Amino acid sequence: MILGIETSCDETAAAVVTADGYVLSSVVSSQADLHARYGGVVPEVASRRHLDLVSPVVREALDAAGVTLDGVERVAVTQGPGLVGALLVGVSAAKAIAWARRLPLVPVDHLSGHVASLYVEPEPLVPPFLCLLASGGHTLLLAVRERGASERLGTTLDDAAGEAFDKGARLLGLGYPGGAELDRLARDGDPGAFTFPVARVSGLDFSFSGLKTALLYAVRDLGPDQVELRKADLAAAYQRAIVRALVQRIDEAVSVTGLDRVAVVGGVAANSALRAALPGVRFAPLHLCTDNAAMIASAARYVDELPYPRYLGLDAYASVS
Ligand code: KG4
Ligand code: ZN
Repeated sequence: MILGIETSCDETAAAVVTADGYVLSSVVSSQADLHARYGGVVPEVASRRHLDLVSPVVREALDAAGVTLDGVERVAVTQGPGLVGALLVGVSAAKAIAWARRLPLVPVDHLSGHVASLYVEPEPLVPPFLCLLASGGHTLLLAVRERGASERLGTTLDDAAGEAFDKGARLLGLGYPGGAELDRLARDGDPGAFTFPVARVSGLDFSFSGLKTALLYAVRDLGPDQVELRKADLAAAYQRAIVRALVQRIDEAVSVTGLDRVAVVGGVAANSALRAALPGVRFAPLHLCTDNAAMIASAARYVDELPYPRYLGLDAYASVS
């Protein structure tokens, strides 16, 4: 039994996953409402909130799984990348729990965590496969040849795909984070009503900042009344450009690598237009797309554990080295 803890951004999450990949519980307490009025995550506010929530969320995950700490064999925690203050709350909580019970601790990379959302029962994906990781902080194309290891083929040169969704949503006056709301609004719109550019970038990298600027200009040219009237069309056309960029790169990566099985993980994997555009592609289970701790506990199954008490000096890291 693995207890997972995730506090890299604005979700305080804990989960219990078995060594063979069954998710017994996954509790996510989102702070989105707390940050909404600032239009983005305020790191120090996030850290303080994690501090309030981490113990009750862990307790709730144990209760929901019907286990006590006596049944937990390893504690897994996100070590990075993310907001360092936020990460440190999870890392400290995990150390305290593991140390008090003399358990091993498993430091997990958040991005490996997203990939490991594909490894849970009842339909665990077996490598090799090509993986698009599209979240609020990252857009990566990975060649996954074995569990716990992957090769990076491409990344974003500027904004992440989820960030592009959130910035677009903001320009359209939607809430924060706006990805899911933009997805909903776009269902009532005509994606052909506007033409937004798909950036041309060499290799297998991505770029979304030009697209955001194109939406900004369209919104300016239309004026507030027209924007209000044509919001759904703008959302649909903007979403189509993001989806096209992602699909194009996946197609290219398939031909470059010869990996013909494709999977998509991360918050943007919840997007309905992306799901519709990629039939035959494997998507992370919906409840494991956005940040959660079940994926962290799942990833811990493929990472070496640190035995008691060798982890007391363990530090978090903010960015990918
Ligand atoms: O994986 P995640 O929870 O956090 C990071 O690790 O960054 O991803 C959050 C991102 C946000 O940008 C959010 O707007 C986006 O995923 N997102 C969506 C949808 N649901 C969440 N973007 C597009 N369509 C959605 N349905
Ligand atoms: Zn994430």
